[in-house]
Amino acid sequence: MIPSEIIEEIKFRCDIVDVISGYVTLKRSGSGMVGLCPFHSEKTPSFHVTPERGFFYCFGCGVGGDVITFIRKIENLDYVGAVELLAKRAGIAIPEQARPDQAPSGVKKTRIVEINREAARFFHAQLLNSPEAKDYLAQRGLTMPIIKHFGLGYAPDSFNAMQLHLTGLGYTVEELTAAFLCGISAKTGRPYDYFRGRIIFPIIDVSGDVVAFGGRALGDGMPKYLNSSDTPAFKKSRTLFALNFARHSCAERLILCEGYMDVIALHAAGFTNAVATLGTALTEEQARIMKRYTKQVVITYDSDRAGQNAADKAIRLLEATGLDTKVLTVTGAKDPDEYIKKYGAAAFGRLLEGSRSRFEFKLDTITEKYKIGPGGEADDESKIKAIGEVVDLLAELSSKTECEICTRRAAERLDVSAENLARDVEVKRRKLYSAAKRAQRRQSLRLAEGYGDRVNPDRRLFMQEAAAEEAILGILLLYPELIPQALEIIGPDEFRTALNRKIYEAIAGASDGFSLSTLGQILSEEEMGRAVSYMAERERLTKNDLEVIEDCAKTLRNSPALPTAAAHDSDVPDPDDIAALIAKRRAGEQS
Ligand code: UTP
Ligand code: MN
Repeated sequence: MIPSEIIEEIKFRCDIVDVISGYVTLKRSGSGMVGLCPFHSEKTPSFHVTPERGFFYCFGCGVGGDVITFIRKIENLDYVGAVELLAKRAGIAIPEQARPDQAPSGVKKTRIVEINREAARFFHAQLLNSPEAKDYLAQRGLTMPIIKHFGLGYAPDSFNAMQLHLTGLGYTVEELTAAFLCGISAKTGRPYDYFRGRIIFPIIDVSGDVVAFGGRALGDGMPKYLNSSDTPAFKKSRTLFALNFARHSCAERLILCEGYMDVIALHAAGFTNAVATLGTALTEEQARIMKRYTKQVVITYDSDRAGQNAADKAIRLLEATGLDTKVLTVTGAKDPDEYIKKYGAAAFGRLLEGSRSRFEFKLDTITEKYKIGPGGEADDESKIKAIGEVVDLLAELSSKTECEICTRRAAERLDVSAENLARDVEVKRRKLYSAAKRAQRRQSLRLAEGYGDRVNPDRRLFMQEAAAEEAILGILLLYPELIPQALEIIGPDEFRTALNRKIYEAIAGASDGFSLSTLGQILSEEEMGRAVSYMAERERLTKNDLEVIEDCAKTLRNSPALPTAAAHDSDVPDPDDIAALIAKRRAGEQS
């Protein structure tokens, strides 16, 4: 556990509005701020921040918490990771013993980074000594300066050359295995070098640490690439190859490629703002990271079908983060690397300037699919299908002017009247809008009824009681100074639903003063959102005092007694049985 003084200090220095403003445009509204929720897509803002009390809450999707919860969610970190990120921002050091950054294997991140640095040195020296590897790279057009710039290396085709070198430097086999540099043979139990006979691409994070490696077979060996798996120093889904270089020249635009070799060819050709994912589809986390560094992303994936499908998925992810996104499809070559080799850097530069928006990219895909356009042989039926897909596409555009321009362009391509197309789009847009509204209403209804409630499953059985508990908790979270008196009125064991009891126990048990961050350490993100929703709901009401708490306590005391099986979750009883039982008792009471 990180000491609570440190957490409070971090929260004091990291103003919640400042931090959230880095991700969401907030506008003043009443005593708080509102904006478009970054955790679900919406067109009208339901994301609220209350700076005075240091929490945020989205009335649309139910996500909420303090500044630490926010960072946890948006950066996809665990609790400690989020605290560390904020501590760094605030310039606060977290004492080493409070930082549980050890892998289950017990090997620390700093140690793995150190090992990787030595391994990279070893691989690089091996490359300089290997005519075979140097030939391969030369034949692929890589010059010595670019090889040095990227720190490329070569893993000799040997069972344990690297292992011998690194154990000679004092690292243990265990540590090498934790760093994914060694594997243990299932047959003999002996450690072997993970990368053998491969060109090595060190993966360097933005702080300059070597966090992992990619290794390409020299010839047609399979698999073509091997990559390090996740370690305490490396999370593939949060890392972009060459961002350590690209970050210096990508304020306006980043180029996103599929492969290491594409990135290297682009950098060599002067496009130093190119990065790549590491052999997996683009993740939400990577998209968010890019958003931090740039305004526009140009996706340039392989020109085959797989690459273009991946591009389509990537655009959606990138646009969802608010990035301006374009697609560049190379023609006459399979990927940017090959394209530059064939046609040169200037030609690639021209393609870059002419790269297409998502709309143009999709429009081209649709017209190709249905063979529409000059020389096309589309019949009426396929033309109607094409129009349907184009209408769907247009209806999704959030800007009216953009929609208007694109509608005109599409009408021309499809050879239909722009007016009719616009009308179809408007109808579709209305449909989408009301469907979204309906879904939202259903969602809040479900939350209110506790139906299918996974966060606090007991809620369904104890509707009234849960409401009373939530009122008490909401008031206490807003006004912690009432906690001692509230505890005299009602104890945690009188709470009926498990989640609420857990929250109240935490409130009761916080010896050194209670704050929202006390909960952050024991609740999951979803539970935290729920706790904050109690606050947000109470904040809308004017009467929040001991009298309300007393009333709620009465409701809880009058609640029918539980069958013991449900009070202790020894073997979970069928909720429907309990519901029936409770309904029966209630009916009995009233008669
Ligand atoms: P490509 O097959 O397009 O590789 O895979 P490339 O980078 O263009 O390499 P060359 O030009 O053939 O040498 C794109 C990326 O997918 C990952 C690698 O990150 C690669 O750069 N990949 C590919 C793997 O992780 N494993 C594989 O077996 C193949
Ligand atoms: Mn390639």
